[in-house]
Amino acid sequence: MRYETPKELKECLELLSGEGARPIAGGTDLIIKMERTGERPDVLVDLSYLPLHDVTLTETGGHEELRIGALATISQLLEHPDIREHAPVLWQACTQTAGPQIRNRATIGGNIVNASPAADPALALLAHRAAVRLISRHGMRDVSLEDFFEGPGRTALLPGEMVETVEIPIRRPSGGVRKLAHFFKMGGRNAQTIAIASLAAITWLDADDTVIRATIAAGSVAPTPLRLRKVEEFLQGRKLDSETIAEAVGLARKSISPIDDVRGSADYRRHIVGVFLERHLSGEPVQDMDGILYANDSSSWIPVRRHAERSIEVDGVVMDDPLGAWDPSMRLLDFLRDVLHVTSVKDGCREGECGACTVLLDGRPVNSCMVPLGDALGRTVVTSEGLMVDQGAIGVEHRALVESGAVQCGFCTPGFAVTTHYLKEKYGEYPGEDVVRREISGHLCRCTGYKKIVEGIEMAFRLEEGE
Ligand SMILES: Cc1cc2nc3c(=O)[nH]c(=O)nc-3n(C[C@H](O)[C@H](O)[C@H](O)COP(=O)(O)OP(=O)(O)OC[C@H]3O[C@@H](n4cnc5c(N)ncnc54)[C@H](O)[C@@H]3O)c2cc1C
Ligand code: FES
Ligand code: FES
Repeated sequence: MRYETPKELKECLELLSGEGARPIAGGTDLIIKMERTGERPDVLVDLSYLPLHDVTLTETGGHEELRIGALATISQLLEHPDIREHAPVLWQACTQTAGPQIRNRATIGGNIVNASPAADPALALLAHRAAVRLISRHGMRDVSLEDFFEGPGRTALLPGEMVETVEIPIRRPSGGVRKLAHFFKMGGRNAQTIAIASLAAITWLDADDTVIRATIAAGSVAPTPLRLRKVEEFLQGRKLDSETIAEAVGLARKSISPIDDVRGSADYRRHIVGVFLERHLSGEPVQDMDGILYANDSSSWIPVRRHAERSIEVDGVVMDDPLGAWDPSMRLLDFLRDVLHVTSVKDGCREGECGACTVLLDGRPVNSCMVPLGDALGRTVVTSEGLMVDQGAIGVEHRALVESGAVQCGFCTPGFAVTTHYLKEKYGEYPGEDVVRREISGHLCRCTGYKKIVEGIEMAFRLEEGE
């Protein structure tokens, strides 16, 4: 398998037009898919070098529009003030997508093209009436997101095409004075969970509480993320009272045909969609997400390649590959363990679930099992071993975890130590247990439970302060 890293769009589109070429962005879906199916594209085209990371607020035809580059990551969207203000349903969906390490890799373009009926950001984009701009060697075209999804894993993308941007119109309908905007998700647990059922909805009301426009979409209830058109039409022009809400809920339940599967029965899914719609139309206050958790991060989201293309910095040491012996399509995890023998980076699930392989890439935690080496080249990696102080003595992160009794088998500990280091850098002061619990939601410990680990993280902040 050839691995290409085009730096310009033109070069990328040439490569994608070739037989057997497949784009890879964050890799959080594709790496798992390749492993499970054994699929090996002839050419893997790494999009991460392209300048498609920006989020911009633009004006076209007198209307404002949010334009999101296909490579913008879910974490980046969470930290972007324009997303929070102008695309609140997308923002809420991003808070409920995966865990921190995956969000640092997962891109909006990849989420859409993966076309999972359970995808969270993609569902939110339906409620925002978003469109995608597709480009190929032959030109570009805009397609509404609703028309883009054709089935599970199937989209309107033609061979050689890729998603360049996602476009969200920002239009207050005339007479609209109040907007209800919600994303709800029911999963098996709080983080890293696939939706059993979900709902994304925006309803505009006039001064008399009459519905001017409703856009409602449900996830995990059909082969694609689904607009509930009948419910939207029913609501249009009606006063939003308890009778209307009850009828809309009944209609929503009747208008979907979900399936029974291991995650939930069809009846349960129907029930949940109704409950979510009722909460939306009743104007439930949006959960106050902790501002500190998604505070604007000053560092750039564009990958910083400080070193030469065939080099990588690991724990402060720059290594080169002048003979081209490194395979850029291998996982960063395997490179660190098998080539560099950095065995503190643990090989757990290899599916982004456990966090045992966590390292910092350009300062942010990622699952190294979900990163192709080619994307990490030229960049800076810090592992648990990089947190050691002189003469191999353990650093404050490890010391705090050990002293607080947060270590039994220790398999998860290097990953937790790396995230602890990141949290110290990000917050400076201990941000409180709730924030810490959400920040470590991409790590699993099978031995100790999380109480001692949270205590250990708090201790690491104190040790840093010299206690
Ligand atoms: C542990 C774990 C938890 C997860 N939790 C969630 C969750 O809660 N909610 C959720 O919605 N998703 C979740 N996901 C799925 C995944 O992280 C997202 O779908 C993510 O946004 C995919 O983006 P990516 O950049 O990693 O895509 P990739 O894996 O790089 O690509 C996915 C697909 O899109 C194609 N592609 C990528 N970019 C483009 C482009 N610009 N143009 C054309 N084709 C493109 C690729 O060829 C591939 O077919 C989870 C994944 C893991 C591993
Ligand atoms: S998350 Fe990478 S090994 Fe489990
Ligand atoms: S201490 Fe054993 S997995 Fe966490």
